[in-house]
Amino acid sequence: RPNGHSHNGHAQDANGTRKLRSRAWFDNPHNPDMTALYLERYMNFGVSREELQSGKPIIGIAQTGSDLSPCNRHHMVLAQRVREGIREAGGIVLEFPVHPIQETGKRPTAGLDRNLAYLGLVEVLYGYPLDGVVLTIGCDKTTPAMLMGAATVNIPAIAMSVGPMLNGWHKGERTGSGTIVWKAREMMAAGEIGYEQFIELVASSAPSTGYCNTMGTATTMNSLAEALGMQLPGSAAIPAPYRDRQEMAWRTGKRIVDMVHEDLKPSDIMTRDAFHNAIVVNSAIGGSTNAPIHINAIARHMGVPLSIDDWQTEGHDVPLLVNLQPAGEYLGEDYYHAGGVPAVVNELMGQGLIRENALTVNGKTIGENCRTTPIQDERVIRPYDQPLKAEAGFVVLRGNLFDNAIMKTSVISPEFRDRYLSNPDSPNAFEGKAVVFDGPEDYHDRIDDPALGIDENTLLFMRGAGPIGYPGAAEVVNMRPPAYLIKKGITSLACIGDGRQSGTSGSPSILNASPEAAAGGNLAILKTGDRVRIDLNRGEANILISDEEIATRRAALDAEGGYKYPPHQTPWQEIQRGLVDQMGNGAVLKPAVAYQKIAQT
Ligand code: FES
Ligand code: MG
Repeated sequence: RPNGHSHNGHAQDANGTRKLRSRAWFDNPHNPDMTALYLERYMNFGVSREELQSGKPIIGIAQTGSDLSPCNRHHMVLAQRVREGIREAGGIVLEFPVHPIQETGKRPTAGLDRNLAYLGLVEVLYGYPLDGVVLTIGCDKTTPAMLMGAATVNIPAIAMSVGPMLNGWHKGERTGSGTIVWKAREMMAAGEIGYEQFIELVASSAPSTGYCNTMGTATTMNSLAEALGMQLPGSAAIPAPYRDRQEMAWRTGKRIVDMVHEDLKPSDIMTRDAFHNAIVVNSAIGGSTNAPIHINAIARHMGVPLSIDDWQTEGHDVPLLVNLQPAGEYLGEDYYHAGGVPAVVNELMGQGLIRENALTVNGKTIGENCRTTPIQDERVIRPYDQPLKAEAGFVVLRGNLFDNAIMKTSVISPEFRDRYLSNPDSPNAFEGKAVVFDGPEDYHDRIDDPALGIDENTLLFMRGAGPIGYPGAAEVVNMRPPAYLIKKGITSLACIGDGRQSGTSGSPSILNASPEAAAGGNLAILKTGDRVRIDLNRGEANILISDEEIATRRAALDAEGGYKYPPHQTPWQEIQRGLVDQMGNGAVLKPAVAYQKIAQT
């Protein structure tokens, strides 16, 4: 049955094995001109014609590491071991570069580049002779960009973390990347340290290759890539420089070749059950507020129904088990020694919280993979009955200010609770005067101005910081109080906004507000001095003005041409602003979600 179709719908080779999609390039007798051209150039790369036409799986390595991306740079080393694994298992390797994304290096935001890297990956996976792909993940946006692309194309794909940096240390204490910045800026604002000491303290947190060693967005998303079933069990937590990381690279390379033979695709793995598991694990690890944006984006490209409300319904009641900064005290190396993701999943399985039949990249279920991994250090990963915090998931808020925003209530400090939430009649509601900033530059210029009259009960608002307003959405909602309040011991005020905040921040902000001011949201009509009421039990956030007043202000703003935001600086900023969805919907490119499973064989 040459080039026929099997009973399961797959095209087959003459010998009856499944015909791989790369055959359309390298072994296509109906199109000899093109076949010759394809072969000729890839033979130049150093692979023989005999091998290219042998029917071996051709495996891409999507390389996110580069000099511009220090967090992922170690993938350039690890790729050698991935290659060896692929070759050993009988595959052919074609490594290719991915548009770089460095969270700390990209202006104006790295968020802008997630969808760009996604588009680039889709185009490569669709347009080249690849039967499967290794997705090198790590720094914040690289993980969702790679998983979103794999979802759209839906060829066999396996993710591999680069791993966190080693623990940071300063004067005998752990310093966590990102998290130390928020502490150091308070110390500098209070006059305790100067500029030189500030830099030294922050730099101590980043002692090696790898991504942020805190439970920031990187460790969160790498853990969730494992919880989704998209990387080998135990892979997420191995620190970048450890020898175990090299071994994992080799195993990952070997495994993707078998996945191609088994035709195990992202759609077999990233099911609704897998997304449920990701939400539950995110609460237990104290995951970043960026997780709902990215996970919802992956689900949308996979065609799996998932809403922002599912994060509260499925995740809010799950306790915090992982004692990593910013919510706790430890760092990435400790997380690995304590058992990493499999130990967390196993502990949650004991409570029936994990959908254990979800399939993973190794061909086994998550239940099978994690059932035998106990917690190795209960200081770092707590047993379920001794959590760090109860109810560690997100609360979803809505009202006349926005359709949805999220808050991580587990990071509310006792001091914050006393100050804002002390009304005995309504213990989880608070009211206060709004002070409004238009973007991070405006905030930096004015936060210390005494004329704003900011006191310990003020609510700070950040707008113009969403996917359109500050292209890609800026991580700026966790605003520090004015220096004069920090000197009095007030280290956090209620912060609300249409931007994001870094996963390394432990601030109890209300953020990711959708729609943003620049997309017609009512944050645009809020004025400094307005009173705002937040009710965490009811999930409401409202400006305390009448509907008529809202309509009047809206009409006045529309007459001026709507909420103003800075002009585009690059072509991509303009293109993305025209196509991007709001954060509650994953901030995906709206036209892209219509393209699903575009290259599955
Ligand atoms: Fe790259 Fe934190 S900045 S992982
Ligand atoms: Mg970040």
